[in-house]
Amino acid sequence: MATGEDMTIEVHPFDPVLATDADFDAYHRVLSDAQPVDKPHVPSITREAVIGGLRRPNPEFGPVRHWLARAGGEVVGVAFACLPEHENAHLVLVDLTVHPDHRRRGVGTAVLDAVREDVRDGHRTVIEGFQLPKGGVGEKWATALGFRVTHATVMQTLVVAEVDRARWDFAAPAGYRLVHWTGATPADLVDSYARARRAIHDAPLGDTSYQPRAWTVEQVRADEAQLREQGVEQRVAVAVHEGTGEVAGMTELHVAPHRPTWGNQRDTAVRAEHRGRGLGVAVKTHLYRRLLADRPDFERIHTGTGAPNTHMIRVNEALGFTTVRELVNVSRVLDPAPPAPRR
Ligand SMILES: CC(C)(COP(=O)(O)OP(=O)(O)OC[C@H]1O[C@@H](n2cnc3c(N)ncnc32)[C@H](O)[C@@H]1OP(=O)(O)O)[C@@H](O)C(=O)NCCC(=O)NCCS
Repeated sequence: MATGEDMTIEVHPFDPVLATDADFDAYHRVLSDAQPVDKPHVPSITREAVIGGLRRPNPEFGPVRHWLARAGGEVVGVAFACLPEHENAHLVLVDLTVHPDHRRRGVGTAVLDAVREDVRDGHRTVIEGFQLPKGGVGEKWATALGFRVTHATVMQTLVVAEVDRARWDFAAPAGYRLVHWTGATPADLVDSYARARRAIHDAPLGDTSYQPRAWTVEQVRADEAQLREQGVEQRVAVAVHEGTGEVAGMTELHVAPHRPTWGNQRDTAVRAEHRGRGLGVAVKTHLYRRLLADRPDFERIHTGTGAPNTHMIRVNEALGFTTVRELVNVSRVLDPAPPAPRR
């Protein structure tokens, strides 16, 4: 609990499983009123998408906890924190939004204090904010609170109705064949697919302490199972090297059940020994052609690429993506729990 200039701010954990319709209305109101202010290029978020996101969070980032901030009984801020596992068990990823009418009154700071208090377990040492509009209020607020900018991501969108699909006419280079699947990776490809996924480790990640996943075969299978459980459609296209029968390059796209006409273009990775032959473009365009053949109603594809990765950003532009904005990650030490009082 914190006292603002003209109101008392109360921050409490929030459980989307137990939430009422009124809670969802309030949550949606904060996000939908903030969206045109903070992200004017993004289409407005529907109540359904808010509930879908709350109930089916991206499994990649581990268990999620939520908080609501109230002032005078009204919900004025919402927050969630992801507690990733494995390589990122040292990290807390936080995302919070204050209603535009209630900013600069200490709500954001009170929420962050509550989150830090609740997530401290002695093991997690770093707290990061992800994907704040570059130069925006979130970045200013975070730097005022001791965070530093560690990485920048260029966000790009492809609007299907506006793209000339002739841009996607790429054949596989000689010596490779293109393969597409939805869901489970074929057993004969899973070893080399996991190896191709590991090539993402070469993508620049700046100074963020977020570690890309190790991508063992077990992780590939666990990821598929989690996405299936969440109702996320996972589409994959790969280039198979004819000489060895191994996956040389891969790309992946997710379709969340609450936004069935939007795709989230995920990793694209080509193993080092196969680079420079156009495989990245070949797998992406193969995936898009298959997607539109199966789903002619599809509307948009979104993707985010590390700002230093200018090659991939240019490739996306050539395929019809438009750069919409730049986002930054911010990071600071998560203070350890205060020592127990002495007797
Ligand atoms: C960023 C955000 C959470 C801040 O919430 P808030 O309740 O207004 O923040 P506070 O009142 O606690 O601000 C604390 C300090 O941060 C700094 N700050 C906050 N907003 C700022 C702005 N627009 N410009 C410059 N500094 C700012 C100030 O130093 C402020 O102290 P002051 O008001 O005494 O000068 C809110 O603007 C928001 O919801 N933005 C959209 C979502 C977002 O970017 N979230 C980022 C975290 S993941």
